[in-house]
Amino acid sequence: MDVVLDRLGRPLRDLRVSVTDRCNFRCRYCMPREEFGKGHNFLPKTEILTYEQIRNFVKACRPLGLKKVRITGGEPLLRQDIHHLVRQLSSMEMDVALTTNGSLLEKNAAKLAESRLSRVTVSLDAIDQEVHSAITDSEVPVADILDGIFAAIRYELGPVKVNCVVQRGVNDHQIPKLVRKFRGTGVIVRFIEFMDVGNTNGWTRGQVVPTSEIIDFLSNEFDLTPLARKSASDVASRWAHSDGTGEIGFISSVTQPFCGDCVRARLSSDGKFFTCLFTTLGHDMSALIRSCRETEELTNTIEEVWSVRKDRYSEKRSSGAISLPRVEMSYIGG
Ligand code: GTP
Ligand code: 5AD
Ligand code: SF4
Ligand code: SF4
Repeated sequence: MDVVLDRLGRPLRDLRVSVTDRCNFRCRYCMPREEFGKGHNFLPKTEILTYEQIRNFVKACRPLGLKKVRITGGEPLLRQDIHHLVRQLSSMEMDVALTTNGSLLEKNAAKLAESRLSRVTVSLDAIDQEVHSAITDSEVPVADILDGIFAAIRYELGPVKVNCVVQRGVNDHQIPKLVRKFRGTGVIVRFIEFMDVGNTNGWTRGQVVPTSEIIDFLSNEFDLTPLARKSASDVASRWAHSDGTGEIGFISSVTQPFCGDCVRARLSSDGKFFTCLFTTLGHDMSALIRSCRETEELTNTIEEVWSVRKDRYSEKRSSGAISLPRVEMSYIGG
């Protein structure tokens, strides 16, 4: 079967699978407690795809050109025995990565490595405890997350990346601290422009710190030189410390959108397929996923959906695109 291309000529290379909509953090910009508190209806267990069903979905994407699967959430390490899913996917010759908030990483790192996880990305928006606690609305010690990161390095789940979503006035002062902390460790820290995903984070453009501003600021302290992107569809621009002590990155989805090379699809934990992070509705494939004994029918349906894809939300945002209700990032993953 030929690789599937969408209407803008983009292949389906990368699938992000959210394995749960639950998280043990309540980041203000992602799952504010007012909305995601006791009264919130999380997906019932009966609606959550099993590992076998996820594996079949990935298998169905493979003939269309899929190469990479990223396991996300919510917090994927809350799902029991997640390494079983990792093993099923890695044994299909997929590049398998995982995004986590790091709080449960130390105790999971060995099993993830044994199951042949390629690499881990840890979300960490602050080094200072009080800033971290305020952002995540949790008491989890930053030290636990750092232990998780260093365990991931020991188990060679690398290059380990740290993702920091930057919000003006909230954690912009943490940027140089993060760079200093990870310089020389092999960890790649990436600063992400705060995006208008979901409906609950009260996003305004004023909260976004443009990448260009961060680079100017960091250049006062660090001698940074630009590196080429490894592949056109990579979301981050790369910079190196010129003395060879490591790399940092920037994900500039607001000021320099990268929809033109977007090869990413998303699957929610209840089986809805999204062709863009900013979609309102996913394509409900749950019935097909559950009923499918042969993956061919699923492959054909995914191909039909992808081949008519025209999404390029981040590029249209700058021209003032109409704002429809959007799916939450905790539900479809980052
Ligand atoms: P690798 O597989 O290691 O290359 O990971 P990655 O660079 O694809 O990164 P990751 O999943 O860590 O993405 C980092 C961040 O970039 C996410 O948390 C989002 O904030 C943002 N991002 C990722 N994909 C998209 C996308 O398709 N659209 C937009 N607008 N932002 C994205
Ligand atoms: N803007 C940018 N990145 C976000 N993430 C969650 N919400 C946003 C947002 N509004 C990131 C998290 C994590 C990944 C799952 O998605 O920081 O790295
Ligand atoms: Fe959880 Fe990540 Fe969302 Fe924070 S950003 S609430 S850690 S899923
Ligand atoms: Fe891809 Fe949509 Fe993100 Fe653009 S906004 S890069 S199309 S997921």
